[in-house]
Amino acid sequence: MSHLIAPSLLAADFTNLQKDCEMLNESQADWFHIDVMDGVFVPNISFGMPVIKAIKKHSKKTMDVHLMIVDPDRYIKTFKEVGADILTVHYEACTHLHRTLQAIKAEGMLAGVALNPHTSVDLLKDTIQDIDLVCLMSVNPGFGGQSFIENTYQKVRELKSLIQSKNASTKIEIDGGVNSSNAPLLKEAGADVLVAGSFVFKSENPTQTIADLKSI
Ligand code: DX5
Ligand code: ZN
Repeated sequence: MSHLIAPSLLAADFTNLQKDCEMLNESQADWFHIDVMDGVFVPNISFGMPVIKAIKKHSKKTMDVHLMIVDPDRYIKTFKEVGADILTVHYEACTHLHRTLQAIKAEGMLAGVALNPHTSVDLLKDTIQDIDLVCLMSVNPGFGGQSFIENTYQKVRELKSLIQSKNASTKIEIDGGVNSSNAPLLKEAGADVLVAGSFVFKSENPTQTIADLKSI
């Protein structure tokens, strides 16, 4: 299967979200990537339930919700209610990751785990079969528009080999600083899903930028 493109709405025009949602619907984007930040797990606050609900109303695609929040278990049901199809929690924010993954699946969503740049993929060896998506952070989470961390390629290769060794069907997503220069190398290393915020929304023609990322 070809790789998937998940534009991050963190870089969208918040004064006209409907327009950007419609652009994504008409584009070759596969997923809507939605970044939720709580000002505790990361030093920034993005948006919450009412905004996600509004995006859902105008989205015709999979809602990929990335939680950068502490103790995400508190809100699993609520994120399902506002429209999440995939719910990704941070490894670093979960004391009982296995339980959290089961709770996400029990709500009928796919379960994702995000790893900060300093977190080793080896830590997922006992849970990888329970994870639908691993989101490798290629920047320190909290802000869009940061530069890509080069060590990510190595992490993608390590994660790919862990997934294969366990016969798992986990997808690998890369999030942060993705652009047309690193995208081909990420795909070659084994990435399945590319998240791109600024590179898409700050470009002159976002629809074309998505098509370009899709065709690498
Ligand atoms: C960072 C977020 C990313 C961010 C990506 O904490 O998780 O999804 O929006 O933005 P760019 O592509 O601009 O790095
Ligand atoms: Zn994200």
